Amino acid sequence: MSVKIERVSTGIPKIDEMLAGGIPRGFAVAITGEPGTGKTIFCIHFIAEGLKRGEKGVFVTTEESRSSIIVQASQFGFDFKRGEEEKRLVIIDALMRSDKAPWTLSALNPEELVQKVIEAKKYLGYGPTRLVIDSMSAFWLDAPAMARRHSYFIKRVLSQWDMTILMTSQYAVTTSEAFGFGVEHVADGIIRFRRSVSGGVLRRFVMVEKMRWTPHDKRMYEIDIVDGKGIVVIGPTSLRKEDVALPQKVTEKIIKAKGKSEKEIGLSD
Ligand SMILES: Nc1ncnc2c1ncn2[C@@H]1O[C@H](COP(=O)(O)OP(=O)(O)OP(=O)(O)O)[C@@H](O)[C@H]1O
Ligand SMILES: [Mg+2]
Repeated sequence: MSVKIERVSTGIPKIDEMLAGGIPRGFAVAITGEPGTGKTIFCIHFIAEGLKRGEKGVFVTTEESRSSIIVQASQFGFDFKRGEEEKRLVIIDALMRSDKAPWTLSALNPEELVQKVIEAKKYLGYGPTRLVIDSMSAFWLDAPAMARRHSYFIKRVLSQWDMTILMTSQYAVTTSEAFGFGVEHVADGIIRFRRSVSGGVLRRFVMVEKMRWTPHDKRMYEIDIVDGKGIVVIGPTSLRKEDVALPQKVTEKIIKAKGKSEKEIGLSD
């Protein structure tokens, strides 16, 4: 008989179904994808679902300000301001770093991040807590080869604090996948968002690429982002891989960059 696993709802029923019930409690999951594919909005759903269930939330935002996250959440019917007022949510603003902000980071480094998150967790008190780090890439902008080491450090320290974690990692053709590479290996799971343009229209997709302990769905699902609602799963798609894959030339470049970054930190030879 296998050990019973407690699963954490993502806030999107269809994605929970794809995950055989949700994300195992205590996991650190990488949320990856190109710009504008829905990573931040997925993280907002995840935090909102926790608040709804009486759990605590910590949202670290590096690319958008705290108020931008509050506005975005409100467009889907989630009241993050109230969460803060009720001391159930802390938004750590790592973009608008000012002395006036109650929760901010003095520097964009993993040690500072971990320290602040623990401070927030202590402030929120006992109980299951959801943590979002959006995005992890910001912590090694000037040293992409450190991605794996930093991710490992962050996961190792924070996993002792009873938190289920989403860590977003961007990848764009211009930055090369080397940015996100470290997170994805260290993570217990990978949920990948994608996009494509067909018939002149932007389409978005989500796929569970990895989830330890989970007989997850292996199909790609088309999603939509709807005002007032957020992420809506349309259904599995029969799209061919070529429709959403990066061009061959780009893939080769990414593979080359990956090899280099692994070598730089001595993880492979
Ligand atoms: N109120 C809304 N109604 C419908 N769609 C919206 C609404 N707000 C945002 N969107 C869509 O969601 C997109 C942004 O999604 P999101 O912020 O989750 O992307 P992301 O994957 O986090 O991107 P990045 O890597 O740049 O941070 C917008 O570009 C827009 O298409
Ligand atoms: Mg984002």
